Amino acid sequence: MNQGLFITMEGIEGVGKSTNMEYVHQSLLAAGIKVVLTREPGGTELGEKIRGLLLDKDNQSMVEDTELLLMFAARAQHLAEVIKPALTQGQWVLCDRFTDATYAYQGGGRGIAYERIAQLEQWTQGDLRPDATLLLDAPVDVGMARAARREQEADRFEREKQAFFVKVRQAYLDMASQNPQRYCVVDASQPLEQVNIQLSEVVNRLIK
Ligand code: TMP
Repeated sequence: MNQGLFITMEGIEGVGKSTNMEYVHQSLLAAGIKVVLTREPGGTELGEKIRGLLLDKDNQSMVEDTELLLMFAARAQHLAEVIKPALTQGQWVLCDRFTDATYAYQGGGRGIAYERIAQLEQWTQGDLRPDATLLLDAPVDVGMARAARREQEADRFEREKQAFFVKVRQAYLDMASQNPQRYCVVDASQPLEQVNIQLSEVVNRLIK
């Protein structure tokens, strides 16, 4: 049986990741492709508990290495329970964030050396990497303004300042330019219909 395709979706807060994940999911379903929809940090019972620790705004004492290791702890569980079994069975996996988020947030944002993240990536994933990564990109002030309109209380990451997200966005854009085969950059500052058109083009390329 052929391996399924592993697709990840990335972007800073407020770029419309949830809405657009659902759009990509529906587009794949319409093309007759069954997809496992999942997210990081999380995607398993244990991983969702780790997510709770990571996002809890009261965990202000969490140091950068703890944050990094918890991301990979959740990822190890997710790979073993969800991602690898699905891909092996030929199913496609659409994942809301993956290791590129670690490079962007813990690497770009927090300043942890990329080499250290790469060591954990190799340890946890071996050679497994996403086949395609959809980066929803928008200027930080656009994303932050959209995120501020949400009703829920801001989590530990959402409380970060603009300068943090400027570094995160730049890290994503750098990865995209270094991996042009894998990355599809979508201009998420446009109206939703335009974003959908861009995503449809990406989906059409993936299902060919
Ligand atoms: P979400 O709100 O988009 O689901 O993601 C939760 C937060 O976790 C988001 O602010 C980005 C952050 N994150 C990291 O910092 N590193 C990672 O590796 C992942 C997967 C997420």
